[in-house]
Amino acid sequence: MRRLVRETDLLPDRLIYPLFVTHGKDVHKEVSSMPGCFQVSINNLVKEAAGVRELGLAGILLFGIPAEKDEVGSGAYDEEGIIQMALAALKEAVPELIVITDVCLCEYTSHGHCGIIRDGDVDNDLTLDMLAKMALSHAEAGADIVAPSDMMDGRVAAIRSALDNEGFTNTPIMSYAAKYASAFYGPFREAAESSPEFGDRRTYQMDPLNSDEAVRECLLDIEEGADIIMVKPALPYLDIIYRVKQETKFPLAAYNVSGEFSMIKAAAANGWLDEKQAVLEALGSIRRAGADIIISYHAKEAARWLGG
Ligand code: PBG
Repeated sequence: MRRLVRETDLLPDRLIYPLFVTHGKDVHKEVSSMPGCFQVSINNLVKEAAGVRELGLAGILLFGIPAEKDEVGSGAYDEEGIIQMALAALKEAVPELIVITDVCLCEYTSHGHCGIIRDGDVDNDLTLDMLAKMALSHAEAGADIVAPSDMMDGRVAAIRSALDNEGFTNTPIMSYAAKYASAFYGPFREAAESSPEFGDRRTYQMDPLNSDEAVRECLLDIEEGADIIMVKPALPYLDIIYRVKQETKFPLAAYNVSGEFSMIKAAAANGWLDEKQAVLEALGSIRRAGADIIISYHAKEAARWLGG
């Protein structure tokens, strides 16, 4: 009876599972701050992807850890780069699974920032070309959706035109449109080996206390050609998810980030929370706020709980 009058549904096909791929063979290395999440080599990634498909999840969001980093992040658009090779393997083994690739330089730069550094700070416009090149190389390697997470101004337009010029008119862009400078990315930076070596990301990520700006950022990205917009993090920003959905009526993703995941995991490990209930309540609240798509490290477990 309760289900009959329930207003919000939470289904596995709304969930995207993030994965971290690294060089080597048979690598399956747990991220210490994210229990149950692993850096995997391509052979294990393919197995993970098959499992994700079996669970009925919508797809995966892929982050790459390159063998080497440099000042300009050239590993990001290397034809033999980690993401490019992973895409080839995934598209051969599980062609129906949606693979979204993260487009950002921070995993590939020696300084760990999301763009090219000039005079001690990230240079927005110099970075655009690199991001466009990176997105194009992902599309060429088989990415179904590219997801720029760098927060440079104008990058959606730059990526859209690079893709269109090379015939990838059907490759959608999922844009991290409202991405806050958040403490909740802490565990991810261990997982992706992407902590900035100096300074922080506040010059390009949003002030957590702003809300109008989030709507503005989303509208700008839509105008530049984004197909899906994203709010990130999710739980401390449910009001932003709600507002952006109301004001744009555009396909909206929310990223339930690493810190949100680790908090529940840590509390559950201590016996302070019922993990299953807490996870389903948290993910349900993100859907209720208005997200169409939820990216979450809980996705696999949630799918099992929802199915059973
Ligand atoms: C990098 C990027 C970040 C996340 C996704 N892409 C971190 C950051 O900006 O430092 C965070 C994801 C998470 O915490 O789960 N551009």
